[in-house]
Amino acid sequence: MHRLLLPVLILTLAGCSGSSKPEGAQAFTIGMSQCNLGEPWRVQMNADIAAAAKKHSNIKMVFKDAQNDTLKQRAHIEELVSAGVDAIIVSPKESQPLTEPIAKAYQANIPVIVLDRAVQGDQFTCFIGADNKKIGKAAGEWLRKKLGPNATIVELKGLMTSIPGQDRNQGFRSGIEGSGINVAFEADMKWLEPDARKEMESALARLSKIDAVYAHNDPGAHGAYLAAKAANREREMLFVGIDALPHEGIAYVKQDILNATFQYPTGGAEAIETALKILNGQQVPKTIVLGSRVFTADNLSQGGEALP
Ligand code: FRU
Repeated sequence: MHRLLLPVLILTLAGCSGSSKPEGAQAFTIGMSQCNLGEPWRVQMNADIAAAAKKHSNIKMVFKDAQNDTLKQRAHIEELVSAGVDAIIVSPKESQPLTEPIAKAYQANIPVIVLDRAVQGDQFTCFIGADNKKIGKAAGEWLRKKLGPNATIVELKGLMTSIPGQDRNQGFRSGIEGSGINVAFEADMKWLEPDARKEMESALARLSKIDAVYAHNDPGAHGAYLAAKAANREREMLFVGIDALPHEGIAYVKQDILNATFQYPTGGAEAIETALKILNGQQVPKTIVLGSRVFTADNLSQGGEALP
């Protein structure tokens, strides 16, 4: 029988006889395919998922870590399908190569929730994530307010084969458009702090004056800061990042390492609540957009400020 129909049928029958089943009567196994656990933000996402799942005694989680290997992640999705899990949550490393295995899982009637990094097309049940174009644009507008029109910026981009990297780049460019601000150096640091540090060393060698670094995540901004500090130039420029984890980006703002960080919520709790709705036969929207906040030294005590 259709994987989804069985629980729905049981609930319907229970409803007909007048004895509704309490939650927990139907057990569900949810597979979570994480692209890597090398960065604190992804460890937090898994922790948020585990905490939300723990609130429901009828959910069993199976976590897979692809260790930043697209082929491994593809295999993990296929394994979850053959294991017959009731739903899949996936945070894919790259958009294009993971579109197909996700579509196949969806076509095998397994509800699939794509979290944070989007795929192509519409062959998935629901996408949950913050609006990266909006966050990038807000970062551009924030820097535009802080800097003069002839400012020189370094942009350290997230993996450009992932949609958040593309959107944070596009959004940022629209935020500084017409300002006269010059992005004099840009590089793909693939979301990785060591790569960001290396790229920043090249930028520092090439540019005698840098007014700001816009990095697509906080590890990238921190890597850039370390490179600038090693060259004794960290006071010359502003550093802006994205993620705003309390123990990472927000701590960097407190320590005066970053000037601003934009929150990128993990969506872990929303993914579990959405999976449960689907498994209980409820309709969910195709896209769920999460909000964001900006944190600076000025607004830290108020818990940051929501993006409009
Ligand atoms: C972690 C991460 C975050 C970033 C997100 C984008 O792997 O690089 O720092 O915000 O992925 O998908």
